[in-house]
Amino acid sequence: MQLTDAIHTRRTVRGFTEQTIEPALLHDIFSVAQRSPSNCNTQPWHAYIVSGERCRQLATDLYQHVSSGKAPQPDFGFMASYEGIFRERQVDCARELYQNMGIERGDKMGRMTALLENYRFFGAPHVVFLGMPRTYSTVNAVDVGIYAQTLMLLMTEQGIASCPQGALAYYPDFVRETLDISDDIGILLGISFGYENSDEPANNTRIDRAPLEQCATFIN
Ligand SMILES: Cc1cc2nc3c(=O)[nH]c(=O)nc-3n(C[C@H](O)[C@H](O)[C@H](O)COP(=O)(O)O)c2cc1C
Repeated sequence: MQLTDAIHTRRTVRGFTEQTIEPALLHDIFSVAQRSPSNCNTQPWHAYIVSGERCRQLATDLYQHVSSGKAPQPDFGFMASYEGIFRERQVDCARELYQNMGIERGDKMGRMTALLENYRFFGAPHVVFLGMPRTYSTVNAVDVGIYAQTLMLLMTEQGIASCPQGALAYYPDFVRETLDISDDIGILLGISFGYENSDEPANNTRIDRAPLEQCATFIN
């Protein structure tokens, strides 16, 4: 697969089959992702890959934890409150997704139920939590972001679907404790992944992008 095709093919998938990925293939994907660039080649990311029964159990426990009303406490702060054009894009994206899922505008309960599926990894048999030293900041988070996209494109190349989830950074204490991750590591992102369940209505979602002029300026 050409890189451009992989970039166009990758999209966020929110419904997976139970089929797990061969450990050797997983190992290859994560090995190649190590080639991601980073500030001073520090490679500040650490990937915690959870698979199979362990992943299923974590999905049950995390869903239960979040549903019980525990307050989120992300290591690196909350998502910005979007305004202007960013807010418009956020609203458009949510409208597209909820329409495909058959959730009416104003159906708060439906939205909440859909939101909680984040914590069940949308049924994926694998999830990876991406962490970096907790004292690091934006500069280093850029490295982890680049790593995340490299990883997802490599998955796409292998026919593996993924869902990047900021939501999975909201309960880091629970994740650290359950997976026995050091307290020094902050969680930035989770990515659920596996093979796409094409019967899942959410997976009919296609999110467009802004025209280039809105996001790029060519200066001569
Ligand atoms: C850093 C990051 C965090 C995200 N967090 C979530 C999330 O918590 N839950 C979710 O369902 N989608 C999440 N997404 C998926 C975005 O909604 C999606 O990438 C965007 O709408 C564009 O759609 P596409 O990935 O299908 O092209 C996240 C994406 C990124 C890059």
